[in-house]
Amino acid sequence: MSSQHVRLATLRRMKEQKKRIVVLTAYDTPSARIADEAGVDIILVGDSLGNVVLGYDDTIPVTLSDMIHHTAAVARARPRALIVGDMPFMTYKLSPEQALANCGRLVQEGGAQAVKLEGGAEIAPTVARVVEAGIPVMGHVGLTPQSIHQLSGYRVQGRGDAERERMIRDARALDAAGAFAIVIELAPRETARAVTEAVSCPTIGIGAGPDTDGQVLVLHDMLGLGLSAPPKFVKAYANLREAMARAIETYCREVREGLYPSDKHSHGE
Ligand code: KIV
Repeated sequence: MSSQHVRLATLRRMKEQKKRIVVLTAYDTPSARIADEAGVDIILVGDSLGNVVLGYDDTIPVTLSDMIHHTAAVARARPRALIVGDMPFMTYKLSPEQALANCGRLVQEGGAQAVKLEGGAEIAPTVARVVEAGIPVMGHVGLTPQSIHQLSGYRVQGRGDAERERMIRDARALDAAGAFAIVIELAPRETARAVTEAVSCPTIGIGAGPDTDGQVLVLHDMLGLGLSAPPKFVKAYANLREAMARAIETYCREVREGLYPSDKHSHGE
């Protein structure tokens, strides 16, 4: 693995060379440092922050200030991976000018090197405006959690010919507007493959099968740190919740039994 910083050109080359792109979320300095040292290509400071760290039921309450705060924490890890910051609910849909001003804040105040916007063809003019201003944009189609009420819940998107064609049209519009990559969330693998074949930029799947150019997972889901059962597509690579609970139980017991602190953990005169 190279120690060079990951840039847009790196990602384009990876797609050409059919090297899969690895994306993982992180929301603070230590987890960004660990993810980076483990070799991820992109750290996404997702607005999944709301569900997995801030205790909200969904991503809608997450604010631009929240995103700036956590993106800045990730940026302080100075990762080799590209840092992408998620634009939260209603901070980019009112107009291209509103989007540009707010994306600028996430880059300037938060240290994001790129931003992610949810939506399809309807936001292509906004994507073009932000990209023209020099801020790289990652698109996001399929299940877009900020539209959870409109979509009637967390359901697979892009099933059937009409929905598949619509997702392809949306992805093509984002690609033409200059998006450097597109997340495809919760879609049948056939749809994700068709979208991947229809666009020139890399696609990054989550719950979209193995045929996209890269994969993204939410850190707390893949580490088994979530408060609820993860979705079907998540592979649990560890059970840290269990490990944390055991460690904290041991600490409680040892303090109560007078076993901690021992001499080893005490200072003499
Ligand atoms: O907020 C997030 O973590 C995301 C990923 C699930 C793609 O948008």
